[in-house]
Amino acid sequence: MVVKVVSKNFDIPNSHTLEVARANGRYSTIDKLFSMTPDEVTDQVVKSGLRGKGGGGAHCGPKWQLMPKGDPRPAYLIVNGDESEPGTFKDRQIFQYDPHLLIEGIICSSYAINAHDAYIYIRGEYKFFIDRLNAAIKEAYDAGIIGEKIMGKHDYRMDITVHRGGGAYICGEKSALIESLEGKRGHPRLKPHGKECEWFFDNPATVNNVETIATVPFIVENGYEAYTAYGTPSSPGTMLFAMSGPVKNPGIYELAFGNKMIDVINTLGGGMLEGKKLKAVIPGGSSCPILTAEEVEKAVLDYESMWDIGSTLGTGGMMIIPEDVSMVDVAKNLIEFYHHESCGQCTPCREGTGWIDKILKKIVEGKGEEADLNTILDVCETMNGKTICVFAPAVKDIIKSIVEKFRDEFVAEFKK
Ligand SMILES: Cc1cc2nc3c(=O)[nH]c(=O)nc-3n(C[C@H](O)[C@H](O)[C@H](O)COP(=O)(O)O)c2cc1C
Repeated sequence: MVVKVVSKNFDIPNSHTLEVARANGRYSTIDKLFSMTPDEVTDQVVKSGLRGKGGGGAHCGPKWQLMPKGDPRPAYLIVNGDESEPGTFKDRQIFQYDPHLLIEGIICSSYAINAHDAYIYIRGEYKFFIDRLNAAIKEAYDAGIIGEKIMGKHDYRMDITVHRGGGAYICGEKSALIESLEGKRGHPRLKPHGKECEWFFDNPATVNNVETIATVPFIVENGYEAYTAYGTPSSPGTMLFAMSGPVKNPGIYELAFGNKMIDVINTLGGGMLEGKKLKAVIPGGSSCPILTAEEVEKAVLDYESMWDIGSTLGTGGMMIIPEDVSMVDVAKNLIEFYHHESCGQCTPCREGTGWIDKILKKIVEGKGEEADLNTILDVCETMNGKTICVFAPAVKDIIKSIVEKFRDEFVAEFKK
């Protein structure tokens, strides 16, 4: 069931060092890369159907094509390693076990969009991974892999800078991330979605997730057909799926799209721990609509199948919830996080997360009443589609789904 596209070197001892990385194929795509034009590289990525792994699932190649052609301003690649969504812990595997794959991906992707400078924006708490990444980047500079030339011979300057975030979840949202990188408060920008590239100090920029960029060398090296050989026609390729909660083998598994969720939980995950029974799964990081045990039986891990059952694939981080965990507590813990992390720029989000937080605390303290549930659902509606970024609609998705699917558990709290 497990496949190895991005995770190929993860289990090799010292895979993070340049010596071991090179002995296991890292930087072997570079000569092929420079035998192609940037448009040819982009074309391969377009045909591969590669989708962004940061949660939104936007097609990567078409996004690169939004970079303006012939613009005299410098172009930038910005790699999103903020990874602050509860339940999502995949990018750090790349930082830890194969940072040279990310550097190779940055070289390939930067060449495709004509960028000579790349920034990696990394979660501030990831101290160990930041050190790993910086050590790998230093090795790459020292070996002449990046710098004035690539691999000491290809006439293409490439500089990579690591930027440590300050610990705000909202700075994972691409425009807030750019604001933060520009030295400002990390507030999302008002922007035409999907119609143009991003702008970094008024220069054209592309923001991609770490795993997205780490997938590009495989496509360049093996051709798009090798990538589309995995997965389904509409969700081609693979993804690093994270599994957390009381299963026997929690962890990260690279899978082709199209596997049944329950099979993954029962085989790779080893099933539930002794004495635990599956109640629900939050499928793709904590803001994707929750699935009941019945829905989990039907869920298939690809974009379209997850939409069909009213949820999303998100970042592929499956949070497994057992019968003995109260869904009221799950909702309360999540809203506490989201209330704390709302950047406060838009009133429906700032106030909405605050109101839901207050109401859920009241319910947990045993002071709730049934009308509170309708108030929560009302507040959810006021948060939907009325804010600058999708933080608030995502909070609405998870809270509304928990209240609607597990209403009985909330009602039971009122009767205690
Ligand atoms: C509140 C919020 C937090 C986000 N956090 C992350 C994150 O930590 N990492 C990430 O890659 N994308 C995150 N995203 C998605 C980014 O805005 C963006 O879509 C993504 O980095 C684009 O890269 P991709 O197309 O390769 O996925 C977040 C979005 C929102 C709304």
